[in-house]
Amino acid sequence: IDLGGVEFERGAGGETHQIAGGDVPVLTTQGGVPVADDQNSLRAGQRGPTLIEDQHFREKIFHFDHERIPERVVHARGFGVHGTFETYESLSDITRADIFQRAGEKTDMFVRFSTVAGNKGSADLARDVRGFACRFYTKEGNWDLVGNNIPVFFIQDAIKFPDLIHAAKQEPDRGFPQAQTAHDNFWDFISLTPESINMALWIMSDRTIPRSFRFMEGFGVHTFRMINAEGKSTFVKFHWKPKQGLQSVVWNEALKLNGADPDFHRRDLWDAIQMGDFPEWELGLQLFDESFAENFDFDVLDATKIIPEEEVPIRIVGKMTLNRCVDNFFQETEQVAFQTGNVVPGIDFTNDPLLQGRNFSYLDTQLKRLGGPNFTHIPVNAPRCPFHHFQQDGHMAMHNPKGRANYEPNSWGGEKGGPRESPEKGFPTFPENIAGEKRRVRSETFSDHYSQARQFYLSQTETEQKHISDAFIFELSKVETPAIRSRVVSHLFNVDDDLARSVGEGLRLKEMPQPANAARPTRMDLKTSPKLSILLN
Ligand code: HEM
Repeated sequence: IDLGGVEFERGAGGETHQIAGGDVPVLTTQGGVPVADDQNSLRAGQRGPTLIEDQHFREKIFHFDHERIPERVVHARGFGVHGTFETYESLSDITRADIFQRAGEKTDMFVRFSTVAGNKGSADLARDVRGFACRFYTKEGNWDLVGNNIPVFFIQDAIKFPDLIHAAKQEPDRGFPQAQTAHDNFWDFISLTPESINMALWIMSDRTIPRSFRFMEGFGVHTFRMINAEGKSTFVKFHWKPKQGLQSVVWNEALKLNGADPDFHRRDLWDAIQMGDFPEWELGLQLFDESFAENFDFDVLDATKIIPEEEVPIRIVGKMTLNRCVDNFFQETEQVAFQTGNVVPGIDFTNDPLLQGRNFSYLDTQLKRLGGPNFTHIPVNAPRCPFHHFQQDGHMAMHNPKGRANYEPNSWGGEKGGPRESPEKGFPTFPENIAGEKRRVRSETFSDHYSQARQFYLSQTETEQKHISDAFIFELSKVETPAIRSRVVSHLFNVDDDLARSVGEGLRLKEMPQPANAARPTRMDLKTSPKLSILLN
């Protein structure tokens, strides 16, 4: 090993001193003062107490003491990398978003994959949903598509999110299980929340044990809007299709990998990128209008439902290539702050009550996690286009307004007066017509919780169906309370008889439960409908 001019010395106590020389810089304090001895604190006398005047010692320990920040309240374990998005064709007829105007346009990206329930140090191959969070550094600001590798979600309304996550994470008295959903609280919540049954089928499928991040699909989940220059709105669902294909491990492999290499997924992505084997995904859009939304079997604002690809085919519009690892894990992967609220002109929200809640949650949690309101000053969070605003001060302010003007309107002209609004270039909120009384009662259009679960199950191959049934048996066998096991099976009877029976028998239930009460009749007729062959794989 060539240490480039570093010399060694042994200290009086036999400790190693490496002395700067040649091109090697001198170690300094944070204030830039050169350090003479980094092996010994300043002490009174030969064996006396440490002196508080030792600034280098105090600063070093103080900084170390404050290295940890709160881990994310969900998706704590993740792995982020840089990439590029290439637009295949202009979508100017559908959206005015700058990123979709010109074929061949390249846009920088940062992407973080994650598990949901486990803590920061948990194993990569836990059976869990994977986060698929993408940031596009567009010329009109950051657009974050904060998605998952499953196209549906557990709940329909964000008000249930704290309950869902409390139930999924470790139980509060015992502090375990740390990273898996095989426990009473989780299945208790699921069994009492029929809207989660569709997602329960998806998470018991092989999708939640992906072979690696490179072999997963990604989904924006919610219905969003795209708005063109004329103000016309088109509904959109976002999809990522891996060029590598979709692959999973089997449960036995997942268990072994968790023991042998808990970092299996992050190592795989790191190695692939370092070797120049850059993974790619194509971005696909499902585009539809108000009339499709009105006539579709389910509510497009219900995030527990998909829109089958054969009803609305996916249009491929661009490609993401992940091609650069981070220089520093904490600085980039830990400090990145994705927000569903980060949309750009030409992309807008819908009234999906889950999405609306997320728009509040991310900004709020990041204020705490990143220690103040200036986390957009961290390079991974800063836009890569020009930005000008009057926000100032707070902890760690790096970009306060320059000059005298920190408000508007003001009387200072030109540059001195600072930025002003622009009706033409600014973000246009879609002027959706809203009327009606305030209410908490959920719309009845959200009430069929089983038909799509059945569609999903029946769309699987026999082997995949067996994996789903085995996964239910494995997970529920860890549930200690018989009534909870039985309640889950009672929902499965509304999904598929054979599935319910095989799970019930696998669990050795004393008697099979009756089908759970459905809020309204399920669409059993779908069982024979051609729509069943939805293209999920
Ligand atoms: C974090 C996806 C629902 C609150 C994340 C992350 C992803 C994600 C991918 C990780 C972001 C990262 O890598 O930094 C989703 C999806 C959802 C969903 C696809 C449903 C479709 C919700 C809801 C809430 C919520 C309903 C709350 C109402 C959070 C919070 C974080 C988070 C607080 C941590 C953010 C941070 O500390 O930076 N979510 N989430 N999520 N999500 Fe969600």
